[in-house]
Amino acid sequence: MADLVLRFRPHAPVSRIHIARGALERLGAFTRRRTGAGRAALVSDERVAALYGPRALASLRKSGIDAELVAFRHGERSKSAMTVERLWEAFSALGIGRGDAVVALGGGVVGDVAGFAAATWLRGVPWIGAPSTLLAQVDSGVGGKTGIDLPAGKNLAGAFHQPAGVLIDPRLLATLPRRELRSGLAEVVKVGMACDAPLFGWVERHVTALAAGEERALEEAVKRGVRVKARVVRADEREREGGARTALNFGHTLGHALERASGYRGLRHGEAVAIGMRAAAALSVRSAGLDPGARARLERVLDALGLPRRVPGIAIDDLIEAMRADKKRARAAFRSRNSTRRGARARDDAARIRWVLTPRVGHASVPRLMSGRLVRAVLLEAGARA
Ligand SMILES: NC(=O)c1ccc[n+]([C@@H]2O[C@H](COP(=O)([O-])OP(=O)(O)OC[C@H]3O[C@@H](n4cnc5c(N)ncnc54)[C@H](O)[C@@H]3O)[C@@H](O)[C@H]2O)c1
Ligand SMILES: [Zn+2]
Repeated sequence: MADLVLRFRPHAPVSRIHIARGALERLGAFTRRRTGAGRAALVSDERVAALYGPRALASLRKSGIDAELVAFRHGERSKSAMTVERLWEAFSALGIGRGDAVVALGGGVVGDVAGFAAATWLRGVPWIGAPSTLLAQVDSGVGGKTGIDLPAGKNLAGAFHQPAGVLIDPRLLATLPRRELRSGLAEVVKVGMACDAPLFGWVERHVTALAAGEERALEEAVKRGVRVKARVVRADEREREGGARTALNFGHTLGHALERASGYRGLRHGEAVAIGMRAAAALSVRSAGLDPGARARLERVLDALGLPRRVPGIAIDDLIEAMRADKKRARAAFRSRNSTRRGARARDDAARIRWVLTPRVGHASVPRLMSGRLVRAVLLEAGARA
């Protein structure tokens, strides 16, 4: 029955990923088998809850799990400490104990915040991921990174907490707005460009079907993307300094800054990452030896998927400020801060930000500090205001 089953290293909490059309109907049996839970908090946002909440609840209850739905407002702004507190209160009211489970049904926002609430409730209870966006099925739902945004930056508070299992039903993508699909496809491109040339080539060959949202193509993209992502995570479960997992931050240095500078409104995560990948590829041509033809391939795929090209009118200085605020900045930034000459400060700010570059398709370099001059030139070229 399993179309694809992947297992993480057995020493860590095992994450089993089950991908099959119609899998949502088996959420209860899956949760029961993976966690043994007698009770569950089904966490979702109100949009996904309206679409799939009743079916998920019915499946959980049919398997003898005493489950209740807890839903919050949809959108990135719910990935907050306030939501976590509300979830803790709900877990308390439901009597969720160590032997019970949190089930996260939704996109990356639901997975990140529900996973974090599960990681911290009673110092950690098991959770099951049931990702419902392409982005979450292919990227955020796999790998055990959970967390919330703070006013000071994205994903600043968080925990590594592997889900006890991930149940992926590609059928849920049928109701996903086109723009959300495109946003998820950006992450598929990212995984290919930074980690796996065959995946990138596959996306290139199927780009028309993917852009049209064809069910079969999307399902195949999820399977291929998850396989590569799981391989990368397995090699580096905790994202060590310079470890394999840092490759997945390709496009995210600028991507996160764009999201932050626009107040998490306007750009979808994947759209911001697409602009970020274009900039990182431009830097890669200039200083990592990426062949200009390979950069053109990336640009063509992103164009064909309808992903944005240009920074929407944000000032270069604001972007650099936002990048510096991101936690992925270089350690060296802290060390060099005091030694920075005052006059050179503004110029050097850009230099203290690390970028994941791609020397060739399917390969990423360890994050590197880039010269301020180069970063400014690339941002200007990308349409940021001088
Ligand atoms: N943990 C990680 O490793 C990781 C990796 C990448 C991204 N992320 C995080 O993921 C988040 C973005 O996730 P996202 O793009 O899934 O956003 P999201 O969770 O906000 O979902 C996008 C929108 O789609 C709706 N939706 C979800 N599933 C639907 C469905 N099946 N049909 C119709 N509508 C549906 C939601 O209600 C929401 O309005 C960001 O916060 C990002 O930081 C985390
Ligand atoms: Zn991302």
